[in-house]
Amino acid sequence: MEFKIKTGELANQKTPCLVLGVFESRKLSGPGEAIDKASEGHLTKVLRRGDLDGETGRLLMLYDVPGVNSDRVLLVGCGKRKELDRTAYRKAVAAAVGLLNETQTVEALCTLPELAPDGLGLYGAVRETATTTLDKVYRYDQTRREDKKAPKHPLKRLNLWVSKKQDRGTVERAVRHGAAIGRGVALAKDLGNLPGNICTPAYLAERALALGQQHQNLQVQILEEQEMEALGMGALLSVSRGSRQPAKLIILDYRGGEEGAKPIVLVGKGLTFDAGGISLKPSEAMDEMKFDMCGGASVLGTLLAAADLGLPVNLIGVVPSSENLPDGDANKPGDIVTSMSGQTIEILNTDAEGRLILCDALTYCERFSPAVVIDLATLTGACVVALGKHASGLFAPEDELAEELLEAGDTAGDRAWRMPLWEDYQQQLDSNFADMANIGGRDAGAITAACFLSRYTKKYPWAHLDIAGTAWLSGKEKGATGRPVPLLTQFLLRRSGELAESGTE
Ligand code: BES
Ligand code: MN
Ligand code: ZN
Repeated sequence: MEFKIKTGELANQKTPCLVLGVFESRKLSGPGEAIDKASEGHLTKVLRRGDLDGETGRLLMLYDVPGVNSDRVLLVGCGKRKELDRTAYRKAVAAAVGLLNETQTVEALCTLPELAPDGLGLYGAVRETATTTLDKVYRYDQTRREDKKAPKHPLKRLNLWVSKKQDRGTVERAVRHGAAIGRGVALAKDLGNLPGNICTPAYLAERALALGQQHQNLQVQILEEQEMEALGMGALLSVSRGSRQPAKLIILDYRGGEEGAKPIVLVGKGLTFDAGGISLKPSEAMDEMKFDMCGGASVLGTLLAAADLGLPVNLIGVVPSSENLPDGDANKPGDIVTSMSGQTIEILNTDAEGRLILCDALTYCERFSPAVVIDLATLTGACVVALGKHASGLFAPEDELAEELLEAGDTAGDRAWRMPLWEDYQQQLDSNFADMANIGGRDAGAITAACFLSRYTKKYPWAHLDIAGTAWLSGKEKGATGRPVPLLTQFLLRRSGELAESGTE
């Protein structure tokens, strides 16, 4: 997808399709008024007939509009002017892009960012347009001979029209940021959507190595089971014992910042298939447990976005990757393993495996003297019960870091919601036989999982994102979402000083 910025008289723009917003009820937006004038009231006349009221996401294609240079004009309902927030704006853009893509419109000129949606500003609106467009035209095609639903001539160029020439710099930057986020999201989706028999720990490692090949200041290293054994990663290795696929610890090291500057470390759960192990999951929807590596996929996606943008920041990605399957050598309920930290763990449920692979990866992170460690994991069904698919669960002992991440999620339209990490919950992990149990009972499952991780992250600032609800969609729309790549990239943009203030420039 190519985004180009256009300025100048709107009616004179030569394009296969001009996209204009219409508010409820039947009110033209600024650019719409300009075209209405040029066409001597043609748009007003059409709207008066009542074919389009302005309801968000409704569309009306017009041909041969007099007095304008474009072949077609697409009217897009944007709802009530006062209610145009990010959600409504996204819906309008997605609807327009969907139609352009399906109707084989290879190129169009979009004026929607001029509508100045609430709280977004021009930078935010343009960036949102780019990410939503890329999100909408994304197709998974790696394991299909042909995609019958794929358009033969999909949308290739979405030009963005801005009224003020002096805004060009802002808009160019917004496009650059939005496109990089979109590419990172697409990579995370591709990896997430691949089936477990293709996307194994070794495959993820290969894809990480390929990323390293593409970017000069990105070094990738893979630790094998032997090396993990030598490091004492007894928790991680206990999970992979039940699988024929060897575990991998993938480490990506991007050096864009000053030498010696403490790195930001992202740790992503890379469970390429989670059957539950001996504590076998019910078979219904078990296929969706191929998505249990989406945390790892988002680490790769975010590193891609950061490297694409050349962000001046040191960033390390760590992806512990394994399968969790039942087997004669698999973990058994009651087994006790020793983690790299030296703490012992009684495995009361082999399906609580994410925290077992993560705890050793988190201990491993100590060697980087990190500025901050953020882990992302499809960790608990309980988080989905609590927050649904709209918000990721955020856990962080320090308020300041929590606020920073919540704000990044708000700004990027990839929201998280903070959950408590109070000491009160820790006792649910008590074990009669080991330093801790790997489950904390039925109550507060997402919180006790975070409490478990908190016991391995005492040596650096840390936050945990439970993305079990947000990383993929089920049902008819089944597929990975690429979340929380937008949240994390926003966090990095802010930390690296690329954005002076939130939502500006
Ligand atoms: N990968 C799952 C979490 C999950 C379940 C994500 C359903 C999305 C949808 C994780 O490994 C798991 O199985 N967690 C258990 C923990 C429990 C045994 C304490 C869960 O949530 O049921
Ligand atoms: Mn599990
Ligand atoms: Zn899992």
